[in-house]
Parts: sequence; C-alpha cells; structure tokens
Amino acid sequence: MNMLYQMVAKTQFGLEGVLAKELTNLGAQDVEEHNRAVSFKGDKGLMYKTNLYLRTALKVLVPVKKFIAGNEQQLYDEIKKIDWSQYLSNDGTMVVHTSLKSDYFNHSQYVSLKTKDAIVDQFRENTGIRPDIDLIRPDLSIDIHINSNEVTVSLDSSAESLHRRGYRSENTLAPINEVTAAGMILLTGWNGKGNFMDPMCGSGTLLIEAGLIAKNIPANMLRQKFGFETWKDFEPETWKKIKEEAVANIKESEANIIGSDKTFKAIEIARENITRAGLDEDIKVSNKQFDEVKPPEGGGIVIMNPPYGERLPIEEIDAFYKAMGDKMKKDFEGFQVWIISSNIAAMKRIGLAASKRLNLFNGALECKYHMFDIYKGTRDKRKLEAAGNPLS
Ligand SMILES: C[S@@+](CC[C@H](N)C(=O)[O-])C[C@H]1O[C@@H](n2cnc3c(N)ncnc32)[C@H](O)[C@@H]1O
Repeated sequence: MNMLYQMVAKTQFGLEGVLAKELTNLGAQDVEEHNRAVSFKGDKGLMYKTNLYLRTALKVLVPVKKFIAGNEQQLYDEIKKIDWSQYLSNDGTMVVHTSLKSDYFNHSQYVSLKTKDAIVDQFRENTGIRPDIDLIRPDLSIDIHINSNEVTVSLDSSAESLHRRGYRSENTLAPINEVTAAGMILLTGWNGKGNFMDPMCGSGTLLIEAGLIAKNIPANMLRQKFGFETWKDFEPETWKKIKEEAVANIKESEANIIGSDKTFKAIEIARENITRAGLDEDIKVSNKQFDEVKPPEGGGIVIMNPPYGERLPIEEIDAFYKAMGDKMKKDFEGFQVWIISSNIAAMKRIGLAASKRLNLFNGALECKYHMFDIYKGTRDKRKLEAAGNPLS
C-alpha cells in the first residue's frame, strides 16, 4: 500500500467548508476543518492532485516535525535534529517562509534566518558542502509556523501560492484573488450549468473561475511549476498520469457565462485573461453599464464584486448601491444575486432582504457576502411595502 502523508491545505477565512468538500471529492481521508486550513491524509498521488485541482487552497503543506521552542537557540537546535538530507541535496537550493503568532518570537524573518542557518550548518558539518538560498525557484520551500511556543515545520508542496493559476496578465486593476473568486462560486452551490453572470467583471476573474468549473478543468492546469516537482522523491510518471487523466476529463461547457463592465480597459484585460485561460468559446464579455444589462431567460446565478466606495462621498455610494438594487428587482427575476462588499451601510441601500450573509475577506478587507433571491413578486411586494401595505 502507498504511504499515507498527513497534509494541511491552507485557505482564506470562510472557505474552509468548501475546501473540505473539494478534498473529500478528490479522495482525501480524515478531512478536518480548522481556522483557515483543512487537514487531511493521502498518498503522494493525492498530494500532486490537490495541487493541480484544488480551487480554494492557497498551499498544500506536508508537516514533518512539531516541537516546543521558547527562543531562537531552541528553535535552531530542534531544526538541526531533523535529517535534512532526506529532503534536499547539499548542492540544492531552498527558501524558508515563516508565519507566527507568538510572544516568544517577534520577527518572522529572523526565524527564517535561524532555520536556514541550522540546515546549512547540518549540511556543512556532514558533507563540507552547503545548499544555497534561492528566493524565486528553490528546490525546496520550507514553511515554519509558530503559534505561541509550538513550532510546526512543513515542506511546502506548492511553493508559489496556488492562486497564481497562470492565466492572469500583469495589469493595473485590483482584481479579486482567484482563490476568493472560486470560493465565492462554490459557496453559491452553482452546478456549472445554465446562466452565470458577472456584470461588474473587471479583469474577469469570477468568469474565468466559473469557466474552469463548467468545463471540469483543474484550477491549476496552466501552472508551470509546483514545489513537489523538485523534491528528491518526485515521481514524474505519477504526475504525468494525473495530468493526462485531468485532460481526459475536461468536458464541453453546459454553462452560459456572461460578463460586462462599464470600463473598456477592464473588458480588454478580461479578454486577454480569458484567451490565456483558453476559454474564448465559453465566456462572452462586453463593455456595458450594469443598468444596460439584459439578462438571458431562465434565471441563474449572478455574482458581483462592486466598488466598495470607501473613498467616495457617502451620498454617491449610497445612490450607486440603491440603483444596483433597483436594477436587480426590475430585471433579474429568477436569479440568485450574490454580492461581496465591505461597505455594510451601502449594502442596506440595495433595499432587499438578504437570504444569506457570509463572512469573507477580500484581501485584508473584511466583507460580507450576501445572497439575494430575486423571485417573482419581489418588485410588487416592495411597491406595496413602500405604500405602507406590507405583505409577508
Ligand atoms: C472591484 S472591481 C471588480 C474586480 C473583478 N472582480 C476582478 O477580479 O477583476 C469593480 C468593477 O465594477 C465596475 N463598475 C463600477 N460601476 C459599474 C457600473 N455601473 N456598471 C458596470 N460596471 C461597473 C468597475 O469598472 C470595476 O471594474
């Protein structure tokens, strides 16, 4: 039987549940949710698969040692006790990243430096040759996490964060993170079929993530490099088979994915990204104000990431959110409209009661992700309420 590894997939706050579901679907065992992470067990093939497929993971880590350390010397000593020749050659390259929440350690960079010193010293003492540091393309990426005085040392099988899918151009917009976008879609429960719209699509992230879901394309199919590919125990044949199987399982889209944005530049960038993702045939975008959008028949899912307007005058942003709500009531009957925003006061101007309100982050901004069911009669009911005759 293949050896089972204990692994941890890191994610963003609020996406733990959808990530756990993704892991279970991939065949992971002992799946457990934690704060911004999900732990699980699986063999080496599953480690490769999780990196390729997971839409809502930022990294897949393989913990190799946990210990208690109250200062830098203890940390150094414990790191040096690990036999690093299992994972790295003396002429290889490495990088160390540290995250910490601790009164014992103040500087993550200093912890990374001490860890690197311990590893380098072990190789030098044992072989006379030492591995080098490579910040960009190291053979081994090491992750140190310190919670109080509990240290976890992990190998980072992803290396660069998994939100870097490989379809995004360098651009000047502030797009939503790919992992957040995929999580937002999975949270709606969308089955990958029928109408999917983003009428404020910016650079097209939500549309592209929806396209990948509709065609059953793994999230990281376009990525050039994963951490595990330069590990000493890398199995190229296993990896090749996993990728071939993924290609064989790509299907025709049964979705109608439509995006628009009021800015021409945004649509230009969205088109470039859609082309790079190989989804030209599957996503239609146009340069339009939300107010001009005519949704197709049949209902479906709308997701919007509107401006939050923290720097605009309150009256302007209130009017913008009110107009958004009026448009939803007027033209989006039969749709479930999901909106992410950090502007809770402005969200009230939408004038509809949210059926769900989930906590998510957009980067560092704490947001609410609201679901509005625009069913038949929403408009009439609002009119009656406005006339002081509420039905319920
Ligand atoms: C926060 S950005 C969306 C970013 C997008 N999710 C991405 O990943 O690139 C908000 C977008 O809404 C667009 N927008 C603002 N007001 C609009 C309106 N009235 N109609 C259509 N688009 C609008 C802006 O041009 C901007 O691209």
